[in-house]
Amino acid sequence: MSNDRVIIFDTTLRDGEQSPGASMTGEEKLRIARQLERMKVDVIEAGFAIASPGDFEAVKNIADNIKDSRVCSLSRALDADIDRAGEALKNAAQGRIHTFIATSPIHMKYKLQMEPDRVVEQAVHAVKRARNLIDDVEFSLEDASRSELDFMCRIIEKVIDAGARTINIPDTVGYAVPHQFAEVIGELIQRIPNSDKAIFSVHCHNDLGLAVANSLAAVGAGARQVECTINGLGERAGNAALEEIVMALKTRQDVMGLETNIDTQHIVGASKLVSSVTGFPVQPNKAIVGANAFAHESGIHQDGVLKHRETYEIMTAESVGWTTNKMVLGKHSGRAAFKSRLEELGTTFKSDADLNSAFQAFKVLADKKHEIFDEDLMALVSNSRAEASSERFQLVNLSVTSQTGETPQADLVVSIDGQEHSCCAEGSGPVDAIFKAIESQVNSGSTLLIYLVNAVTEGTDSQGEVTVRLEKGGRIVNGLGADTDVIIASAKAYIHALNLLDTNAEKAHPQV
Ligand code: KIV
Ligand code: ZN
Repeated sequence: MSNDRVIIFDTTLRDGEQSPGASMTGEEKLRIARQLERMKVDVIEAGFAIASPGDFEAVKNIADNIKDSRVCSLSRALDADIDRAGEALKNAAQGRIHTFIATSPIHMKYKLQMEPDRVVEQAVHAVKRARNLIDDVEFSLEDASRSELDFMCRIIEKVIDAGARTINIPDTVGYAVPHQFAEVIGELIQRIPNSDKAIFSVHCHNDLGLAVANSLAAVGAGARQVECTINGLGERAGNAALEEIVMALKTRQDVMGLETNIDTQHIVGASKLVSSVTGFPVQPNKAIVGANAFAHESGIHQDGVLKHRETYEIMTAESVGWTTNKMVLGKHSGRAAFKSRLEELGTTFKSDADLNSAFQAFKVLADKKHEIFDEDLMALVSNSRAEASSERFQLVNLSVTSQTGETPQADLVVSIDGQEHSCCAEGSGPVDAIFKAIESQVNSGSTLLIYLVNAVTEGTDSQGEVTVRLEKGGRIVNGLGADTDVIIASAKAYIHALNLLDTNAEKAHPQV
């Protein structure tokens, strides 16, 4: 591979999933992986195979199905983790085991409670064990940005000798600043005698809002792999945003002199898919993928762009996959057109029954809203999937009264384990009344963390997509609901969140 090429390693499905409330089903992960493959991402970190049986299946399913991108599983530097990752990747056309151990004094002393020499031994052992299972092994020094340079040189030299092909330097706690992080990367590459036998990679968190800047500075100093996520999803403040890294390298190729293999026209599709699956909306002013990223509000800007686009635009909206909101389907569209448009958007159906139920929902929507956009289709599919997975609790009927000067009241029928229950409650607003009425039957003991409504398209006939984030006993879930009636969408989202809380989704966190 040319030395001008930066490898894009996407960790939306692993680090991205570590965002509180961003957990995804195996089927959703495969959908995202297919979109990443379409976008020509080099490496997809599909998950942490040992975390739970569900995670193992998700990594395996992606490894079995994705052929053009390399599929990777994370594993701590422990035998059981490595073996489980190897098993999940058994059928991968191109697989990678990514193993890691912490190297900073604070992590070694308090978290691992291990002497530095022991950490080196364990790292070398882990890399050798992984190399016995697969020929592509990546090693990460967790909390590298707070690790001592001499110690990093020592451990990296040993793990390269043991067979690691990629050495990842994570800024785990988002502590680095660009010029200093670049110096660290440059020093490591220069001082480690066998550094030419591996590709240096970076993985930056965004606690100080510097993840993208740090990643680009590291690339300038010789790193040739960047770990990043769609929409910057990830633990705490998130990871470096893939779309920003890729478009910065592309737009400023004149100064950086580097390229990626990404087909940038799939960026917006990937962003929308991740946002709709996780229920994490994209802020309107987010670079590249925010709704306003290419909108010119001021008259002077609009005038300039109309006269000569480059006066105010450094890249085109089309180059990242923004198309003007075009009507894609309508009430007379058939099942084949519906299926094929969704396939173009990265969604396939597991069975004819799944397709039929989504198509029925489309017909109902098309009766209410005669122009159906891509965004409507994505919301509709997320909603159908949320309803299909909502087994224990279901919304049967809902009526709300809301009148000036009166207290809003909600009357509902909910089904719990197949038994219908009527409930009613008053609230400070209709949504408050609905949630109280549901809770009067369910008594979930959860706390509402976030209630969000997002208009899927323009116009007052738009579907409202509602996210309800609930927390119970440290577990956080995001329920989703979509409907042209935002009140109904709110009830659906609350019920979906209750169903998610009810499923037994316990899993190990790699860094705890
Ligand atoms: O942030 C981090 O250090 C990680 C490693 C496991 C690569 O996510
Ligand atoms: Zn991370």
